[in-house]
Amino acid sequence: MFSTAFLDIPALQGASGTVTLPGSKSISNRVLLLSALCQGTTVVHDLLDSDDTRVMLAALRQLGCGVDAEGTTVTITGLGGRAWPAEAIEFFMGNAGTAMRPLTAALAVQGGDFTLKGVPRMHERPIGDLVDALRELGCTIDYLGNEGYPPLRVGQPQLQLDKPIPVRGDVSSQFLTALLMALPLAAQERAITIEVVGELISKPYIEITLNLLARYGIAVERQGWERFVIPAGSRYQSPGSIHVEADASSASYFIALGAMAEGQGIRIQGVGADSIQGDIRFMDAAAQMGAHITSGPNWLEIRRGAWPLKGITLDCNHIPDAAMTLAVMALYADGPTTLRNIASWRVKETDRIAAMAAESRKLGATVEEGPDWITIHPLPAGHWRRASIHTYDDHRVAMCFSLAAFNADQVPVRIEDPKCVAKTFPDYFEALFSVAHTASPHIPVICIDGPTASGKGTLASRVAAQLGYHYLDSGALYRVTAHAALQAGLTLEAVDEAAIAKLARRLPVRFEGEQVLLDNVDVTDAIRSEQGGMNASKVSVLPTVREALIDLQHSFQRLPGLLADGRDMGTVIFPNAPLKVFLTASAAQRAERRHKQLILKGFSANIDNLRADLEARDARDMSRSVAPLLPAQDALQLDNSSLTIEASVEQVMVWWQSRQVFGA
Ligand code: DC
Repeated sequence: MFSTAFLDIPALQGASGTVTLPGSKSISNRVLLLSALCQGTTVVHDLLDSDDTRVMLAALRQLGCGVDAEGTTVTITGLGGRAWPAEAIEFFMGNAGTAMRPLTAALAVQGGDFTLKGVPRMHERPIGDLVDALRELGCTIDYLGNEGYPPLRVGQPQLQLDKPIPVRGDVSSQFLTALLMALPLAAQERAITIEVVGELISKPYIEITLNLLARYGIAVERQGWERFVIPAGSRYQSPGSIHVEADASSASYFIALGAMAEGQGIRIQGVGADSIQGDIRFMDAAAQMGAHITSGPNWLEIRRGAWPLKGITLDCNHIPDAAMTLAVMALYADGPTTLRNIASWRVKETDRIAAMAAESRKLGATVEEGPDWITIHPLPAGHWRRASIHTYDDHRVAMCFSLAAFNADQVPVRIEDPKCVAKTFPDYFEALFSVAHTASPHIPVICIDGPTASGKGTLASRVAAQLGYHYLDSGALYRVTAHAALQAGLTLEAVDEAAIAKLARRLPVRFEGEQVLLDNVDVTDAIRSEQGGMNASKVSVLPTVREALIDLQHSFQRLPGLLADGRDMGTVIFPNAPLKVFLTASAAQRAERRHKQLILKGFSANIDNLRADLEARDARDMSRSVAPLLPAQDALQLDNSSLTIEASVEQVMVWWQSRQVFGA
């Protein structure tokens, strides 16, 4: 997951390959609650691991459910037939509507002393219609803040089940879903009828609910979309085990990608055209815009069809979440696209109509909006602007606008707060970068070099972490090469140059966090020793060895960008890097830092000797004929003698930001 303040997505040119998507949020949270209400255990496979499901799991644990998680398989031991907690419990629901609504209903029907709270945005998301319905039923619910909104307090009910329970269906279908899942708890003696008031929106989500209720032994009788009857004697029964389909809304970004990007096409694993999720119908809308889609059991394949895409006018009531993706596809169309009947966008994680309009305009688009519709005009070549996309703590805004990186003007896009995707798809950007491609000049490289012990490794890896970029420690490659050569019984001298180069060309090296693995063996400590450094220095003067490592070093230039540290990064390996930094800490300072490091590691050391060593090594490094230590001509010099690491990082970030200007 990218936990950086922002993520700069380079201009993207194509996409191909396979993505396996995480489980559906809607199915995951329903399945968790239903499993909790059963007697006995249910094994849930392919559960989504996200903020929303974590909120639900935490709440279920608080209620006393058994929760045993192993990767994406979670075993739930339900509360059915057991006593619910009598003590007061406070639940924190974050911004998870799919946890808040059904849990409120289940708690209110069951009764207890419960408080439900969330993040500030949750306290702005309406719940009054659900509370009204539950009160009608005899539940005790109080508002602790504003009337009609969380936080809520739930007490003991006096259920009155003799008359139909009215619930509004035109604000959020989650209210009806919540009642449908809670009421079987009270339907042992008699049938319970729910009556929908107003036109029911987002019907496909109700279909998911009914479908899953059936899997858990509750056969709801549906009379049109107005009346739902839960039969007398209903009782939750665990299906034993259940698989969660991949999220069809998450699939929308990759369907769009396949429709927009040049390449062999995209294959999506985990969900197919026969999905029980309403958002799968996004594929019809995408096809209308030009996508070429085929499907089989649990998979979809998408290729570019019509290009540019075709502008459409569509009632999106049946695909409210996925429809946001159409708004971004519309930028690549041949005419305007109007999405209608999307009033529910205004009460989601953020006001999504306002958000999509504002951020599309930043890119340069013309957008019109009304209370329940939005029209997006295509953005032709020559009109795209570099924009910093605000994401409003809304995962879908972030994922949608990543697709703006395919723009005709080849400008990058900045996504603010990229970690907000964690709500449903924590590794979204990793998945995107695994299939998207672009020409290497678009993938930024920042080079950092400097003399031994100048702190370039620390600086480079910290800047990489702030930008979410990859990190290449080129010195480690020479260290590993030397290590491998010695292991193979070679000397580190010119006589064995060809043999060492051969080894280097196929070096089976892997970096995992701080660890360096050679042929799956951890060699981190061995290569990081002083001796390891000397050995590296020896092989690094052999020209064919340097030559042999070039391809490997280039292979680190991957989306979204790279921090490369080492001798010839800015001069030989990445000569076109847009930012090169050369550190120039004094020998005295470096000796002091090295001294501290060694003492910390438990070695004895003498500062004066260290300084003499460093000065000798500097002289040797600068005067050597092969890859001498010299700043690239266009490198910016940074004397970090009296700077903290944070201040050095800050300086490099300031330089970088001044070259990467995005309109806010
Ligand atoms: O940065 P370091 O101490 O891990 O580097 C080990 C040796 O490899 C050092 O002598 C410099 C040399 N080196 C090189 O010649 N070219 C590079 N790109 C990186 C390191």
